[in-house]
Amino acid sequence: MPAATVVLQTAESFQTLTIRPPEAGIALQGRIRVPGDKSISHRALMLGAIANGTTVIQGLLLGEDPRSTAACFRALGAEISALNAKEVTVKGIGLGNLQEPTDMLSAGNSGTTLRLMLGLLASHSGRFFTVTGDASLRSRPMLRVIRPLQQMGADLWFRMGGFAPLAIQGQTLQPIHYYSPIASAQVKSCILLAGLMTEGKTTITEPALSRDHSERMLRAFGADLTVDPETHSVTVTGPAALQGQTVIVPGDISSAAFWLVAGAIVPGSNLVIENVGVNPTRTGILDVLAEMGAQIQLENPREVAGEPVADLRVRHSPLQSCEISGAIIPRLIDEIPILAVAAVFAQGTTVIRDATELRVKESDRIAVMATQLSRLGAQVTELPDGLEIVGGTPLVGTEVDSDRDHRVAMSLAIAALNARGTTIIQGAEAAAISYPDFTATLQRICP
Ligand code: S3P
Repeated sequence: MPAATVVLQTAESFQTLTIRPPEAGIALQGRIRVPGDKSISHRALMLGAIANGTTVIQGLLLGEDPRSTAACFRALGAEISALNAKEVTVKGIGLGNLQEPTDMLSAGNSGTTLRLMLGLLASHSGRFFTVTGDASLRSRPMLRVIRPLQQMGADLWFRMGGFAPLAIQGQTLQPIHYYSPIASAQVKSCILLAGLMTEGKTTITEPALSRDHSERMLRAFGADLTVDPETHSVTVTGPAALQGQTVIVPGDISSAAFWLVAGAIVPGSNLVIENVGVNPTRTGILDVLAEMGAQIQLENPREVAGEPVADLRVRHSPLQSCEISGAIIPRLIDEIPILAVAAVFAQGTTVIRDATELRVKESDRIAVMATQLSRLGAQVTELPDGLEIVGGTPLVGTEVDSDRDHRVAMSLAIAALNARGTTIIQGAEAAAISYPDFTATLQRICP
């Protein structure tokens, strides 16, 4: 059987990924390890920087986003060893001791870096900070964190409409109870981090539960935190004293998601993805794929450093359409691009709703996925808050574009595995934001 073609070409800082499956198809086989969880990696670097003592991080994601966080916190005075996946040490400088950098901080492409860091910077009284990011980040909404921080007494300047670059004059903040209009772990974490240095009880209530990695890690570092699961509320009592810890970062379920869908849609596949974080606030993808008829088994479930972990086995099986909406959306928000690919290969019409947030991610993921999957021949209609996908139309390879969005680039690569002919993905370099070894792994599992 002729082998699949998976070729990555690099020209300056741009990459093009060419994928041509053999006519007889490719069965994906093997055991895979995905890189460390991005959300947990950011938080480990940040809490390590502001804690007392040394934090050791095993399994840190070496993607560009955590590199942006490390660069910012080095500029703020924390000593962070050279980044590697085995072991990174962070010598914490203690809460309230972030130093005023002599230059602008850059969060690169990373919304998590910028929004979480703002909570810390705003509460560092007497110090002045300026923060920016790349073109994508500078177009993403920051009012969602600016408004609650201003209610706490923060002094912030920003571009009209609430866009970076931002300037922050640190202040002593007041505790508030903030009712967030959106379920967002970035908003929640920003407020909790601001609350660490604020005397009294700072509470955030969200409309649905978003990922809870901040709560788990803040507790482990010694913060006084209470959670009310009924009302989706978290309260931090400040001032806190954080102590450095060992953080073992599990594999990122958002990266595993590409292989889960690849294994489910490519006939003859049988893949095991080892050591994946299966925190219930992140496993919406497993619930939806199970409902669609995917065969996914959790093997060897265990708890590692306060986070649930398992090996995930996926085998090919026919998929059915489903409806994805409501409270499950925050539990799979980053997986919607790859779930859209699953829907293209499912029988029936899949409807994704209540996902307006996708329009303000690294790209407008609703518009970009609708456009790019349509180019491949899929029947996809853009809805104001989601997508309608009529599955079952065979895809034909062509040139597509990631719009510099890492999750779009990788989702299109998985779609290409099941398309006839050659697919050329422009902007494939974006994968390095969260998954630098994506193409190497794809080459390894393609026979
Ligand atoms: C993240 C929260 C989510 C998610 C993002 C990472 C985090 O964003 O989409 O990739 O680490 O807190 P929102 O909080 O904006 O939903």
